[in-house]
Amino acid sequence: MTSLLQTPVPAAADDLTLRRGAARVLLTNWTGSSTVPSHGLYPHQWSWDSAFIAIGLRHLSVRRAQRELESLLGAQWADGRVPHIVFSPDVPLDAYFPSPDFWRSSTSGAPSGAPAGTETSGIVQPPVHALAAWLVHQADPETSRSRGFLPRVYARLVAWHDYLTDRRDLGGGGLAAMVHPWEPGMDNSPCWDGPLRRVEPAAPGSYRRADLDHGQAAERPTDLDYGRYVRLAADYRDSGYADAPGTHGFAVEDPCVNALLIVSEHALARIAAETGADPAPHEARAARLTDALVERLWSPAHGMFLSRDLVGDELITERSVAGLVPLIVPGLPQEITDALLATARSSAFLLGEIPMAPSYDVTGHAFDPSRYWRGPAWFNTNWLLERGLRQYGQVRAATALRAAMLDAAGDSAFAEYVDPFTAEARGTRAFGWTAALTLDLLAEEPAAPDASSIGVHT
Ligand code: SER
Repeated sequence: MTSLLQTPVPAAADDLTLRRGAARVLLTNWTGSSTVPSHGLYPHQWSWDSAFIAIGLRHLSVRRAQRELESLLGAQWADGRVPHIVFSPDVPLDAYFPSPDFWRSSTSGAPSGAPAGTETSGIVQPPVHALAAWLVHQADPETSRSRGFLPRVYARLVAWHDYLTDRRDLGGGGLAAMVHPWEPGMDNSPCWDGPLRRVEPAAPGSYRRADLDHGQAAERPTDLDYGRYVRLAADYRDSGYADAPGTHGFAVEDPCVNALLIVSEHALARIAAETGADPAPHEARAARLTDALVERLWSPAHGMFLSRDLVGDELITERSVAGLVPLIVPGLPQEITDALLATARSSAFLLGEIPMAPSYDVTGHAFDPSRYWRGPAWFNTNWLLERGLRQYGQVRAATALRAAMLDAAGDSAFAEYVDPFTAEARGTRAFGWTAALTLDLLAEEPAAPDASSIGVHT
């Protein structure tokens, strides 16, 4: 007879513990109007973090999830850009670098329409926001309608996508370009090593990194990378944050950014229909972006999407998880999805063989299982892959990935990222989007292997 102590804990109890732990992180990181990714390492509001956080927060409080997105969009610039950081005036300047006195958005950004009363950075991050707004609406359409949530955010989201498809089409081929390695969100990805080699680093003594006060140096970008980040940001600031082809020291088209733009554009079509606007232009733009993504970034030889370096005008042959994320895009040709799935399962990404997808090819020359975006597995990219796998009928693989992510999230105390082989915690802990996406995975396991899995086509 099995004693009570030997009785395995039912899965539901595990889920409850995990849900409570994730909720605790989001409650602790809530500031009253938004959620910090982490109180120590990232003590302000970050753009794509907020979008992923809203996707999880909707399961705790739809009102907070709405507030999260609206507080971010409240700092939007008049040219449509949504800044990658909205600074809290309550946080000391030396808590995070680069601080508001570095970016000087309200003065240097004025020619590009930066708000006068809020300090922000001047660069952007991937456009997850329209997708997040639609998912937040879907969590409780009645409350959403009674509060006028979608009509309030629609015009801002349209302006944001207009900025990306117009002012940021620096390659002229219809995709959005990113002008700083922080913009695609994968700061020190080996994809940027080549383009960054052209950039003269800022002098080491001219700034002080604050990230090393909170994170292990071996798990963070190197000083050489930081010097280049600082140089690029300062040059952009000194141009008044102007966007023009041929003027940026760093300019790339990234498949993850553009895949998210496409999915968000599909979401905008849904939001338009819900608010009485015309969805057709959004569907048309999503279709144009999808064609451009395939035309400009698909590499049959690599079996995945690659980034394009606009300064050198060539594809970057490093294999990053960013090149698999387009599995979230609906309606890709079957030869592409077949190749993406084969690459995900290959010795480079080991889908199904290791807990979570690494951020970079584990056989690649620059692979490092611990250092930020050079190998560790992140929860946001794996959440996107999980959805993409489901969308293209890979239900068993998606279910296994979901289970591995939930285990890793709980065991790592909601780490920022984990070693892809062992799922051991790396980076900071109690990280906002790890907790939020855990809540989202727990909320429901999408059943249907169709385009509704990303939540856009329902
Ligand atoms: N990810 C960068 C940082 O580490 C910038 O957003 O601060």
